[in-house]
Amino acid sequence: MCAAVLVVGSANADLVVPVDRRPAGGETVLGGDTVLSPGGKGANTAVAAGRLGADVALLGAVGSDPYGALLRDSLAGAGVSTTFLRVVDRPTGIAYITVTPDGENSILVSPGANSALTPADITSEALAGAAVVVLSLEVPLPTVEHAVRRAAAAGVTVVLNLSPAARLSASTLAAVDVLLVNEHEAAYLLRSDDADPRELLDLGPRAAVVTLGAKGAVVVDADGVTEVASPAVEAVDTTGAGDAFAGALAAALSEGTALVTAARRAVKVAAISVTRHGAQPSYPSSDELE
Ligand code: RIB
Ligand code: NA
Repeated sequence: MCAAVLVVGSANADLVVPVDRRPAGGETVLGGDTVLSPGGKGANTAVAAGRLGADVALLGAVGSDPYGALLRDSLAGAGVSTTFLRVVDRPTGIAYITVTPDGENSILVSPGANSALTPADITSEALAGAAVVVLSLEVPLPTVEHAVRRAAAAGVTVVLNLSPAARLSASTLAAVDVLLVNEHEAAYLLRSDDADPRELLDLGPRAAVVTLGAKGAVVVDADGVTEVASPAVEAVDTTGAGDAFAGALAAALSEGTALVTAARRAVKVAAISVTRHGAQPSYPSSDELE
């Protein structure tokens, strides 16, 4: 069993609390009612691609608890294969998320089962037939680095969503086809707030996409720098917008779509996602894109 898009990454239960403001250290703040929803950067990416009709699988790990079942249901509902989703003897990952009235989130992740994903999980069977592998960084970095190397060696297009930001080896970055970062992650990588996005290519990837929130995205590749504008929307919750972008981009690339065209579609998908609450529940189907 293989899929055109293989996502290697996390699956978390998101516990989302609306707040007027976030507590400081030693302080208690009362928020609104908790909403439980399926999340995790890997599962989000897979669900976003699945909703758009891509043939997609998630390679990851969950616990044998109700949160693991919640994630399986959401993945199955979006048509995502869970053949490579392992059940391990750790609690399913949980993300504790606060969302303020402006739609901004802050997230604390307890990785749990996601920490159990090892390089040995990146099997030939999982990679066989994949056109695109997408990775994000809520699973152990040695696993990510191993998966990038193996995918690149097999000639599979590697999309690396550098979220949450971390330092990867130069050889890993050199094996990446499309490096996906937001403005903060770009600044982290380039060690500067106002660096030229073209400098991302000096780190090794063939191309880079910098997402800019309401301002859309910038694509940097051998053809130069291309700005992709976002439709204007009313944001209520930006949680998982970057993952929606990653999933939509990978889905388009797996069909042979050119990077800039894929980024245009991904910007639209991310824009729709921020108009609705939660991560996975907010992702659009391809019908909605027309
Ligand atoms: O990128 C958004 C995701 O980050 C949330 O769904 C949460 O699970 C955290 O992993
Ligand atoms: Na959303």
